Amino acid sequence: MKTSALAIRTAEQSENEPMYLPPSPPASHKPSDSDDSDSASERSEETYDLPVPPPSTYPMEVLELDKNTPDAHVVRDPRLIRLTGVHPFNTEAPLSALYDSGFLTPQELFYVRNHGPVPKVEDSESLDWTFTIDGLVDNPVTLSVRDLQTEFRQVTIPITLVCAGNRRKEQNTVRKSNGFSWGSAGVSTALWTGVLLSDVLERVRPKRKGRYMCMEGADKLPNGYYGTSVKLAWAKNPEKGMLLAWAMNGEPLQPDHGKPLRVVIPGQIGGRSVKWLKKLTITAAPSDNWYHIYDNRVLPTMVTPAMAKEDPTWWTDERYAIYDLSVNAACAYPAHKEEHPAVTPETDFTYKVQGYAYGGGGRRITRVEISLDKGTTWRLTDITYPEDRYRSLPDDATYNNSTFDVADRETSFCWSFWSLSIPMSELQAAEDVLVRAQDEAMNIMPRDMYWSVLGMMNNPWFRIEVVHEGGKVRFEHPTALKTEDGWMERAKREGRNLVDGYWGKGPAAASAAAVEVQDEVKMTNPASTRVVEYEELVAEREGSYLFVVNGEVYDGASYLEGHPGGAQSIISAAGQDVSEEFLAIHSESAKAMMPTYHIGTLSPAARRTLASPPTTTAISTALRPVFLDPKRWINATLTTKRVVSSDTRIFTFTLEHPDQLVGLPIGQHLMIKIQDENTKETIIRAYTPISCSSRKGEIDLLIKVYFGNERWKGGKMTQAMDVLGMGHRVQFKGPIGKLVYKGRGEVNLSTASPSNVKIRRFNMICGGTGITPIFQVLRAVVQDAEDATECVVLYGNRKRGDILCGKELEELERLGGSKVKLIHTLSRETDPTWKGRRGRVDNVLIEAEVGERREGELVLVCGPEEMEKDVRRICTELGWGEGDMCFF
Ligand code: MTE
Repeated sequence: MKTSALAIRTAEQSENEPMYLPPSPPASHKPSDSDDSDSASERSEETYDLPVPPPSTYPMEVLELDKNTPDAHVVRDPRLIRLTGVHPFNTEAPLSALYDSGFLTPQELFYVRNHGPVPKVEDSESLDWTFTIDGLVDNPVTLSVRDLQTEFRQVTIPITLVCAGNRRKEQNTVRKSNGFSWGSAGVSTALWTGVLLSDVLERVRPKRKGRYMCMEGADKLPNGYYGTSVKLAWAKNPEKGMLLAWAMNGEPLQPDHGKPLRVVIPGQIGGRSVKWLKKLTITAAPSDNWYHIYDNRVLPTMVTPAMAKEDPTWWTDERYAIYDLSVNAACAYPAHKEEHPAVTPETDFTYKVQGYAYGGGGRRITRVEISLDKGTTWRLTDITYPEDRYRSLPDDATYNNSTFDVADRETSFCWSFWSLSIPMSELQAAEDVLVRAQDEAMNIMPRDMYWSVLGMMNNPWFRIEVVHEGGKVRFEHPTALKTEDGWMERAKREGRNLVDGYWGKGPAAASAAAVEVQDEVKMTNPASTRVVEYEELVAEREGSYLFVVNGEVYDGASYLEGHPGGAQSIISAAGQDVSEEFLAIHSESAKAMMPTYHIGTLSPAARRTLASPPTTTAISTALRPVFLDPKRWINATLTTKRVVSSDTRIFTFTLEHPDQLVGLPIGQHLMIKIQDENTKETIIRAYTPISCSSRKGEIDLLIKVYFGNERWKGGKMTQAMDVLGMGHRVQFKGPIGKLVYKGRGEVNLSTASPSNVKIRRFNMICGGTGITPIFQVLRAVVQDAEDATECVVLYGNRKRGDILCGKELEELERLGGSKVKLIHTLSRETDPTWKGRRGRVDNVLIEAEVGERREGELVLVCGPEEMEKDVRRICTELGWGEGDMCFF
């Protein structure tokens, strides 16, 4: 590991100036005689052999891809691998780069976990940043960073932070969890400077009833400000080393790491170390912050995502909250995909297998072992503990205006490094290299993974597979971040059972008997064993529409007529990998139909080509007249949000240029893609804009926000939309949908068949936001004086305030005259002044207003699933066939 001399001051601290103005230079140099304030008469200096804070090479410019995000003020290192798209910023360094940078991680390579936008704080405001401490305390206070720096003892402690999701991609490969995929570099170490929380808490004097310390940051997220809690007894205990920190590696915190002030909790999962700290509250119960409850837990393994969604009591059981880190280790070298020519006795050489290990709660790693024979025998590695080198410093040694608080601690708050030299011939003779660590409490990494809904604290043996190919030996890590070529991903593709206890290589009987942990719907047909090449996938052949979901190839041709989303969605998917949107918008029953259309598996070469397809056409720089593209996601910018009511908003998105038409036929929808700030899951939903299709340069979307409550998390998409900042770019794709209204009674019910049907009346039945596609068709009929199509609209809501586009609908009814009849029906209105119909959209209403099936009429339905089911049943009883009804 990289270490060298660190200059430490060992004399009286003459200045106790706050440090933000200007930022201190990194303390890695030995000041020369000419350093003006460092004259030998004022202080003596000694040099110790300590890990050196890496010289900062912090980038000075905002990266291009951050410019259109709420983090446009944050400079970042382009080497960091983004795990959740462009924003929010969740990143880790390539494992080798992290490991090579040594015991202390440079700020710019330190992993980042941001749930949302980074608060903007100027250097000049940092010292005046305040936070409050209140709740069950005798002496509530508001303190500034300046107060902390001038009124309390300043300490520096080396501490490793680890995201609870470190190594989660392995869990996600076994079975998708609710969390995004981290590799094994969600871990980093720094020298943290600040004050001990125990000192600060002494000043506020917590009351006897206080048992928890709740913390809250300044980052506003979809479910409130980020916050969590730890036990107060821990925070009061100086031995736990909890800090309020403003510096990392001798430099002010960078924005991504909590500038200007954060909590640092050693030995516990990173999620407890709240950044941009604004509040500490002493309470009798754990935090009720949404992020404390729905994040950072390991629920029992049998709890599926669906169970956890349905029953909130899983989340409030404090026994499943995680604090201390579990013992864990990963191998940095051999690196993923590292290759060596196969050796002979003559060419054999010694290879140093090496990596990191960490324990939780300050417990020291006491052994790291390697097995080359599947865990039958183990070899002990050498471990170094760079953290211990700070313990030999004299008590009065100062660093960055602070003292090192390490010497008399019996805690191990940092990662350690292990290594073992092994002849390459032995490595290449093994099928795999297995690594496990153990701590001083004898906690040991398990062989088998403990899968859980959030995929946290993953720590089974770290396994590297040894692959022989073409006279070479290749080492493969379990997963890879930007590709899917880890051994686990390969095994999964090959249909091997990753939880057979033998990493998918168990004896057939064991594999067959293994519990099927996947409760995902099976979408493949075991008889479809063809390997499909890229050329076949993209070839345009009559009667064949091949598309890819999760590496499997499907032909949608025979479903063009039947597809509820219309033939166009299948046609648009042809030749593409549509995994993301397919999985996002299809129900379990739709997925269960997939084996019928499954034709084979994409070849590895085709997978690679599909990931970066060859450019066949020059990219046109001409302005596109039409915004929507059925095959590509296109960005539009959120420019206005009009609050229509407490839960309804109209969002206006600006298209690529003012003359651009949205390109959405009447009756069709578009797909919107954004990312859930909490789960980092990509959410895709279909919406129908309310703006006219002839409007240029902009589209309006009417969105009702489904806010969560104690029992229900709320609508993922709508809550995420609600917190989008102006200027945020959102992606659109389309059009999709089964029905196109061509005008004057002409309807095309599936773009697969060119023939239009002529109708004379629409029976429109809708509920809640289901009004939007109905509204488009109704407006088209009304606005064309020559269009004589009759429209009866039955619109169900709970209360008067829930009616969407109420005024616009009245206006259309007025303008439509005898061709439009609008009936509102409210199921839960208690206001006696409501003179309209009461009750649900039921058989009485439908029988009266729609009646029995008649030729030349269509029933259009859009509403909640339950309502659609009822309408289908009632209309079927009235003689309407499937071909007479269109469910949006
Ligand atoms: N604090 C705030 N205010 N907001 C956040 O999103 N993320 C938490 C924690 N503190 C978070 C936060 C999580 S989950 C982790 S792992 C650590 O910050 C990551 O700290 P880092 O980004 O400095 O590495």
